[in-house]
Amino acid sequence: MAPSLLPSLLLILTFLPPLLAATNLRTVATLFRSHPISEPAGAVPPTTYFEVTKPIQLPKTQPCSYLVLQHDFASTYGKPPVLASYQPPSDCPSQNFAKIVLEWTATSKGRQYDRIFGVWIGGVEILRSCTAEPRATGIVWTVKKDITSDITFGKLDNEADLILPISRNLPLNDGLWFEIENSTDIQGKEIKIPQNAYRAVLEVYVSFHENDEFWFGNYPNEYISVNNLTGFPGNGPFREVVVSLDDVVIGAIWPFTVIYTGGVNPLLWRPISGIGSFDLPTYDIEVTPFLGRILDQKGHKFAFRVTNALNVWYIDANLHLWLDKKWERTQGKVLKHRTSPLALSLLSNFSGFDGSFVVKASRSIVSSGWVRSSHGVIITKSQQKLKYGNAMILGNDSNLQKLDQIIKLKESVHFKIP
Ligand SMILES: *[C@@H]1O[C@H](CO)[C@@H](O)[C@H](O)[C@H]1NC(C)=O
Ligand SMILES: *[C@@H]1O[C@H](CO)[C@@H](O)[C@H](O)[C@H]1NC(C)=O
Ligand SMILES: *[C@@H]1O[C@H](CO)[C@@H](O)[C@H](O)[C@H]1NC(C)=O
Ligand SMILES: *[C@@H]1O[C@H](CO)[C@@H](O)[C@H](O)[C@H]1NC(C)=O
Repeated sequence: MAPSLLPSLLLILTFLPPLLAATNLRTVATLFRSHPISEPAGAVPPTTYFEVTKPIQLPKTQPCSYLVLQHDFASTYGKPPVLASYQPPSDCPSQNFAKIVLEWTATSKGRQYDRIFGVWIGGVEILRSCTAEPRATGIVWTVKKDITSDITFGKLDNEADLILPISRNLPLNDGLWFEIENSTDIQGKEIKIPQNAYRAVLEVYVSFHENDEFWFGNYPNEYISVNNLTGFPGNGPFREVVVSLDDVVIGAIWPFTVIYTGGVNPLLWRPISGIGSFDLPTYDIEVTPFLGRILDQKGHKFAFRVTNALNVWYIDANLHLWLDKKWERTQGKVLKHRTSPLALSLLSNFSGFDGSFVVKASRSIVSSGWVRSSHGVIITKSQQKLKYGNAMILGNDSNLQKLDQIIKLKESVHFKIP
């Protein structure tokens, strides 16, 4: 595809505070909070920080690189995102890009908290990340992400033709993500999709902060109230992001426990940062079985809530759509949609500050539907089976916390021609 098909794009970067300082904390919570660290400066070169990831497979051709933005970020709280206008580079030897890699490099020095940030292109999020906490002598780090499937020019066969953002619109003194503040808060956006879509996948970005930064270690509410604790985040250690389409649950996300670079003890994350901290995982929800409900040129609402949420969760999503090259309209119908209600249990046994807690949860979502396109009639069946267990031991007058959490996830998407 020629780059002229793409309107000018914005690359948007924003930084936000990941946490509020909480007062009146006991030792456990204090240990868990993010701390900035400081140390004396010397004539030492900056340290290179990194997250351990699989290397990106690159073609053996000469890459064509393009600088999108260079900026010095300072006090960014409550400020609008930094904008850069972006045109796909026209002077590359070829416009058939086999791979598109976003490369983010930053340096920082002194004393600073970790910050959550996002990068969006035309409202479509392409990176959610956390900055590293610097040393007095300075640090440098690079995040590389394969964004080939997030950009619809130079498209490969298996990639979507159109990506619609489910994120907030500018102007904003914030990121484009939705903020979910509590368990009843529902945020989302109504969109219209082209009438000739034959496949749809929602890619969801999720990060948790402040009172839910360590949701997997949050105390059960009864423990907090019986012990008259204040300043402790509660609601127990289970969270799920529930994705709905027109108020009907279509998918659940039981997120990975990313620990940001200031989490627990910042000394653990230098120079190797935690899994997912520089490139937060995203979660895919297969929307194809529901296409029959949304191919009508009317607005339909994709929305998110978080079971047991405390302030604050940052969530947005990209709807990847595959469009029929031959037909102006496709058709579809939902065949089956079964959502088991969330089964959630808590067993607690405590006396004073010491005790043990076992939280278990399970849920399943099964959906199927057919879509008729120029490829024929295809039935898509999507299944999610989720199981969760969290065993928490609090001892030594709550100066000791032991956690053992396991999430088992069985997901499948099958296509079949009847
Ligand atoms: C939950 O958050 C929403 C959005 O900020 C707010 O309107 C609502 O009052 C909150 N509900 C509770 C129970 O705090
Ligand atoms: C909690 O507060 C209540 C009411 O003030 C009091 O009766 C109770 O003894 C307190 N419990 C503890 C563990 O301090
Ligand atoms: C509760 O904890 C106490 C102290 O560890 C233990 O003796 C008791 O057997 C536990 N009760 C149950 C039902 O697990
Ligand atoms: C229990 O707490 C005391 C005082 O806070 C501490 O010295 C000790 O190491 C703790 N023991 C364990 C097993 O954490």
